[in-house]
Amino acid sequence: MPHTNQQDHIDAMLHETRVIAPSEEFQARARVTREEYERRYRQSLEHPDEFWSEVAGELYWMKRWEQVLDWQEPHAQWFVGGQTNVAYNALDRNVQHGLGEKRAIVWEGEDGEVRTYTYAELLREVKKAANALLGLGVQPGDRVTLYMPLIPEAAVAMLACARIGAVHSVVFGGFSVSALSDRINDAQSKVLITADGGYRRGQPVPLKKNADEAAQKTPTLEKMLVVRRVGTPVDWQPERDVWWHEAVEAASGEHEAAPLDSEHPLFILYTSGSTGKPKGVQHTTGGYMVGTYLTTQAVFDLRDDDVYWCTADVGWVTGHSYSVYGPLLNGATVVMYEGAPNQPDWGRFWEIIQKHRVTILYTAPTAIRAFMQHGDEIPGRYDLSSLRLLGSVGEPINPEAWMWYWRVIGGGRCPVVDTWWQTETGSIMLTTLPGAFPSKPGSAGLPMYGVEPALMTHDGEELGADDGGLLVIKRPWPSMLRTVYGDDERYRKSYWGEIKGVYFAGDGARRDADGYYTIVGRVDDVLNVSGHRLGTMEIESALVAHPSVSEAAVVGKPDAVKGESVVAFVLVQDGYTVDPTELRAHVTREIGALARPDAIIVSDALPKTRSGKIMRRFLRQIAAGQEIQGDTSTLEDPGVLERLAATPPA
Ligand code: PRX
Repeated sequence: MPHTNQQDHIDAMLHETRVIAPSEEFQARARVTREEYERRYRQSLEHPDEFWSEVAGELYWMKRWEQVLDWQEPHAQWFVGGQTNVAYNALDRNVQHGLGEKRAIVWEGEDGEVRTYTYAELLREVKKAANALLGLGVQPGDRVTLYMPLIPEAAVAMLACARIGAVHSVVFGGFSVSALSDRINDAQSKVLITADGGYRRGQPVPLKKNADEAAQKTPTLEKMLVVRRVGTPVDWQPERDVWWHEAVEAASGEHEAAPLDSEHPLFILYTSGSTGKPKGVQHTTGGYMVGTYLTTQAVFDLRDDDVYWCTADVGWVTGHSYSVYGPLLNGATVVMYEGAPNQPDWGRFWEIIQKHRVTILYTAPTAIRAFMQHGDEIPGRYDLSSLRLLGSVGEPINPEAWMWYWRVIGGGRCPVVDTWWQTETGSIMLTTLPGAFPSKPGSAGLPMYGVEPALMTHDGEELGADDGGLLVIKRPWPSMLRTVYGDDERYRKSYWGEIKGVYFAGDGARRDADGYYTIVGRVDDVLNVSGHRLGTMEIESALVAHPSVSEAAVVGKPDAVKGESVVAFVLVQDGYTVDPTELRAHVTREIGALARPDAIIVSDALPKTRSGKIMRRFLRQIAAGQEIQGDTSTLEDPGVLERLAATPPA
């Protein structure tokens, strides 16, 4: 069994034996039956060209592909020679199919404002925004960074980029000034789209102010397009800044979607790895479109009258694939909510479900555990009878949270789909298709079409059922990342170079006799805090950038709500004292509040081997308050463990 960061959850999951079958009613109406899954899964592996041609053929291509897959490991090209446009497929195609008057986006602001866009209205907005971007000089292939609240304009901006072939790079609005400028610089973006602010827990977040500061360090940035959301005063540089409402309003409503090569880059999204700075995961047009289209339909059992709500912000991959692209490609009605789950109180999600008659809810275990902590009574006040399917994503869901979600939110009637995937995979890879298979709480389940997973040792030896191992994928799939932007070597090494010939996911997993995969967590130095991916190295770099810190080591500690919390061990620079409050504020400035350490342990030494390697294993045990286990004899100074364990965290 590989080492992972979340031992407690793993123990609970491994002893879980409950099996929850979908109701007969759900099964009878399910889009995908067990037989259908088995037939199509087999087809997808045995005749992949035929399978993927069928799926891609349901979408519109300006030019049909000549070859389904060109695989020159580790580089894949899908639907080679084909030309298409994701925004065209999400909008124009649906309007042509008679969905013009159907609601595409039902958006609710944290302040209660509601805005609705039909498919025809959204198409018009996107065409205007596309023309506005062209007017700012954006060319196909140019990078456009988005730093926005979760407002409809964020989806409009993404689709407008896709429409003209510009590559969007969305930076989560909770990231700091320096995280934003680093990402703009790495992508060499020409345009930044932001807003004056966005609401979070009742307060406007000063996005434009952060963007202004970031722009002082971003030489490639030429223009800033600013949405007016909160109406607070902002600084203005007339030669650089453009109001969204002025530019978009003035732009023409006529625009033909650009025919783009299937492998034309669609977006870059930064995510954390175990080493170095965040990686710009790059996705392309055709394969990503096909992958998100297919999985949204199959996994969420999507039907015409569904009201679908994925709570993820567009700053994360879930917000790309399942708040915007996947559901819109399927012509679904998408609910979007700008704010925090506890604003004004912990009933907000349930109120939104009641008000908009949401039928499908897709959210993260961390949110479920937070709701659970506040009791059954709050959701009990709302009418949740519109719900028919629930989904979970982003981190392992512990069986207790799964059962609570199923029982209290789903009323014991809605299947829960636990979906395992990653920024890199683009779309859902493992899940239990609702209606086709019974769920096992805590276990993601079976591979999606075309996905061939396996468990391996680090040496590439394949393991059998019920052996824990490293999760790998044995063949390319359409929505996989194509490279790390500007660093193909890192792409080769991190994903296809760890274990020869397979995609290395960075997760540990087990498989049971029914073939269900249970993800046990990351096997590398990547943390998952409230479903957000953070690299320990990134946080360490931020800590040592503070003058009072000479060295730092960051580990995760199991947390009942967040999954993991950040624990920092720091050594003090001679002549300084460490002020934990100031250090937390510093990390918030360097990365964002999501990386702020929960506990800081100030010490005079770290457990190192004689060759100077920090033994994080021991730090994790200390952080979790566990007895030290394992061979400490390789440590240069084993006494340091006792001293660290005796130091109260600040
Ligand atoms: O460790 C796995 C965990 O989240 C990682 C991917 O994070 P990110 O790229 O930010 O994408 C999150 C949303 C897809 C994975 O390596 N993870 C994601 N979903 C699950 C999960 N762990 C267990 N169960 C899941 N359903």
